[in-house]
Amino acid sequence: MSATPENVVAQLVETMRTLAGPHQGFRPVHAKGLVCSGTFHATPEARSVSRAIHLQGQPIPTVIRFSNASGDPDIHDGGAAPRAIAVKFQLPDGKNADILALSIEGFAARTPEEFLAFLQAQLPSAGADAVPRFLASHRATGAFLGRLGQKPVPSSYGQASYHGEHAFLFTAANGTSRFGRYHWIPEAGEAYLSPDDAGKLSPNFLRDEMEQRLQKGPVAFELQLQLAEKGDPTNDATALWPSDRPRVKLGRLEIAAISPTGTADERRMVFDPTNLTDGIDLSDDPILRARSAAYSISYEHRSKGK
Ligand code: HEM
Repeated sequence: MSATPENVVAQLVETMRTLAGPHQGFRPVHAKGLVCSGTFHATPEARSVSRAIHLQGQPIPTVIRFSNASGDPDIHDGGAAPRAIAVKFQLPDGKNADILALSIEGFAARTPEEFLAFLQAQLPSAGADAVPRFLASHRATGAFLGRLGQKPVPSSYGQASYHGEHAFLFTAANGTSRFGRYHWIPEAGEAYLSPDDAGKLSPNFLRDEMEQRLQKGPVAFELQLQLAEKGDPTNDATALWPSDRPRVKLGRLEIAAISPTGTADERRMVFDPTNLTDGIDLSDDPILRARSAAYSISYEHRSKGK
């Protein structure tokens, strides 16, 4: 598989920055976030799938960042957009490993070039018919927007399912390897609002709701791994695997509190889907392989206050 040209990655970040507008020191997407702390416990089954250190059963401290996919840090919480969870596992060896996931299953584009074309179609300079024209020739992007329409606004960050989108390769201690995709399933069940109803709530209702929810007790998610069968695509995040593929329960994430994280700390945090540990490897998905470089460029801008 050939690597994505550097200029495509740079243009992706630049186009995101243009679409977001000037918000110095913020992420150009997923700008509005909420940082929490929690603990992950792997199930006994997880070990049979991967020898990864955080899947062996000991409690693993985690940092969690929920976010809205928009690049506007002041966006009202009621708009239709994917929401996200980024989880950093603080491993016993002093390193860490990340899982990033979105509230809509599957991604909007198959390759970085296709994603760039979709973003460029959203620029005002592209004209009013650029997005409809793009969608007419990209059915998978339309299908993604259709799924977003069904789950436009979670009523709580703790009541959405989140999907890791890409396939990763999981290797157990006995050397057996399998491809799988992550899903975070909320213990409280899923609940969504229409943008009309959500628009009547306070602009930061997702933060307020989480504060109130955590006062009553922890917020928990089950981490499931959907296992690929022969022939399931591992290089195309737009192609969902059949919903009846077996799922292994990997563990339980218990979120205990909102972190007293200052803006400066949040700026310094980087979640990267290619930040892995032994026992988990990248698939050949071209989007997955392009993301790390994009996140580095973005961090570079943010840390310089650009
Ligand atoms: C080529 C495709 C993609 C590009 C260029 C891209 C780009 C970016 C950038 C630039 C950031 C800000 C990173 C930072 O400044 O720290 C970001 C954040 C994020 N992206 Fe992507 N992204 C892509 C695909 C995806 C996919 C497929 C997912 C699905 C899991 C995803 C999930 C996230 C999440 C959850 C965050 C927020 C992380 C945080 O809380 O810090 N992205 N993305």
